[in-house]
Amino acid sequence: MHNLEADLLRGLWYVACPSSEIKPGKMLGKTLMGEPLLIARAASGDVFCLRDICPHRGIPLRHGWFDGETVQCCYHGWKFDTDGRCVDIPSTHETQTIDYSRISCGAYPVREQNGLIWIYFAQEGEAPEDGRQPAPPLLPDFPADAGPRLHIMLPFVCSVDHAALGLMDPTHAAFVHTSWWFKKNAAKLRAKEKLFEPAELGWAMARHKLPPQNIAYKVLGDNVTTEIRYALPGLRVEHIQGSRHSVVGLTTITPVDRSHTEVRQMFWASMGWVGPFKPLIRHLMKVFLDQDRRVVIQQREGLKHNPRLMLINDADTQGRWWMQLKDEWTRSGAEDRPFANPVKGRTLRWMS
Ligand code: FES
Ligand SMILES: [Fe+2]
Repeated sequence: MHNLEADLLRGLWYVACPSSEIKPGKMLGKTLMGEPLLIARAASGDVFCLRDICPHRGIPLRHGWFDGETVQCCYHGWKFDTDGRCVDIPSTHETQTIDYSRISCGAYPVREQNGLIWIYFAQEGEAPEDGRQPAPPLLPDFPADAGPRLHIMLPFVCSVDHAALGLMDPTHAAFVHTSWWFKKNAAKLRAKEKLFEPAELGWAMARHKLPPQNIAYKVLGDNVTTEIRYALPGLRVEHIQGSRHSVVGLTTITPVDRSHTEVRQMFWASMGWVGPFKPLIRHLMKVFLDQDRRVVIQQREGLKHNPRLMLINDADTQGRWWMQLKDEWTRSGAEDRPFANPVKGRTLRWMS
């Protein structure tokens, strides 16, 4: 692991942004995985994603215009369709013939699922149709066309590895997330013991009961249980289920580049009455995530000196799994063999 930068995994689907951020006829330029992207929604409603560099003279296409069907470069007016193919070069004289179809700015495979725009970053030489991860993962309980009820995003000034280690770190909460509404007494640590098992591209904290005395869980009914999954390339899915209702929390970490990361938190809930509480819940989510954001900024002061870091048992075992999963994904891709999940099921114990 490098301290300030991360190796970025390819051959996987990444969350780019919520569907609601891109209305028909609108385009959005953003960098993900160190690559300039132009994400846009055609008048037909379909989302597409182009490489945001004009193949003529390299200017980003986002500075140009989008009429709902083609993107036009602001420099010499070349036009590109939703597949990235050039369809017009205005400077072409009637005596000239140019085969526009041979010119392309490049396009990325895009899916809309669960109210999110997912983009596929292919491995070198890989055709999208035989991609290593055929489709983005589906959420439990909620259909593919159900969008999140709540969504926040904060940019983290850290590599995707440190964002991931923070996300799956069970022992920092008592020190970092010390708001009155989360934990009254940071010093009072309690023994925890949880069963973990391998899962699709990652692992799961096996389904277990949540404390029935907690009123926050009572609204879901009786026998409230939860399962938390972690998966490449940086997804955490928490599925809380009661006799009456269920809630899914999704956290995604998407690399902007090797040292910057977008962290998103979203919720799906089966209860109809969430509406009026949204501003409060969103505020609490922001406070919580901002505590994580601030700690990695402080961490960076030390990481600049490239110290040797430690992962200890069992508090950091999940962090170790994360690094092993990344390693195996890269290696199996390079050796052109199936991915073999390195995680073995076991119980982890810690104080938190
Ligand atoms: S640079 Fe885009 S059309 Fe010339
Ligand atoms: Fe945290």
